[in-house]
Amino acid sequence: MSNQPPPTGPDRAVGGKISVPDLGAMKRRGERITMVTVYDAPSARLADAAGIDVALVGDSAAMTMLGHDSTLPVTVDEMLMLTRAVARGAKRPLIVADMPFGSFQPSDEVAVHNAVRFLKSGGADAVKLEGAGPMLRRAEAIVDAAIPVIGHIGLTPQSVKLLGGYKPQGRTAVKARRLVDAARALERAGCFAIVLEAIPPPVAAFITKAIGIPTIGIGAGAACDGQVLVWHDLMGLSNGQMPRFVKQYADIGAAMFAALEAYVSDVRAGRFPEDRHTYAMLEHELDSFEAELMAASADEDD
Ligand code: KIV
Repeated sequence: MSNQPPPTGPDRAVGGKISVPDLGAMKRRGERITMVTVYDAPSARLADAAGIDVALVGDSAAMTMLGHDSTLPVTVDEMLMLTRAVARGAKRPLIVADMPFGSFQPSDEVAVHNAVRFLKSGGADAVKLEGAGPMLRRAEAIVDAAIPVIGHIGLTPQSVKLLGGYKPQGRTAVKARRLVDAARALERAGCFAIVLEAIPPPVAAFITKAIGIPTIGIGAGAACDGQVLVWHDLMGLSNGQMPRFVKQYADIGAAMFAALEAYVSDVRAGRFPEDRHTYAMLEHELDSFEAELMAASADEDD
């Protein structure tokens, strides 16, 4: 395995660790925030070198990494393992762990207990949780425990059963108004940023102006204070149809597939490994090894 450091990114890659207040300051300065989901150490190193501000260990890992068909099955223990790996790889970005389905809904106590685990044994700097309404109390309880929280409204994939699918949200005046109220309530609850997923750009733009904390959009238009994409979508590693809000920046899946095909073909044809992939033995050691083998087989024949 190569020990080469990841390619260094632009100037933004240098500098100190991003903190929660840094993101608020970026909003005030009109500087756009970059967030990407990351689930392992090598990807986290690349995200760090490329100047990503926030590494989100998304519960989308259930689908992208673990092969489930929704985000619902992923557990706290699984998310903790991924969060630890990301924390080992990413030094500068703020590391945010997504609280998985069932890890915060039951009660304030359960929510605080699990959020503490993400900071204490996961190495996260903050957590994210989906929803508003009854979940506002959970967000407030976690913030009261001195744990920074990012809210998430609009399309909230953990509510897929309730929503009846992965559909854009806030497309009527009444529903858009509810999203504005939810964003304001999450800010009052102490959240330091809010993810806005799959909502019309004018609604996201209004929310972004109406609240003092940064909005991070995914399918919410360009007026948000920052943007987030799912790693596998961005890199071209996703299966099947992607939502219209995805921009695929690379075709890594195709590159991986071509590499694997070439490897399979080389092994089958005896082209790999070559001499340069093997370890040499000193000639006199080889001679004495062969002499020992011959002596042993002569003993056996006697
Ligand atoms: O889990 C995830 O990937 C997310 C992003 C879509 C924001 O929550």
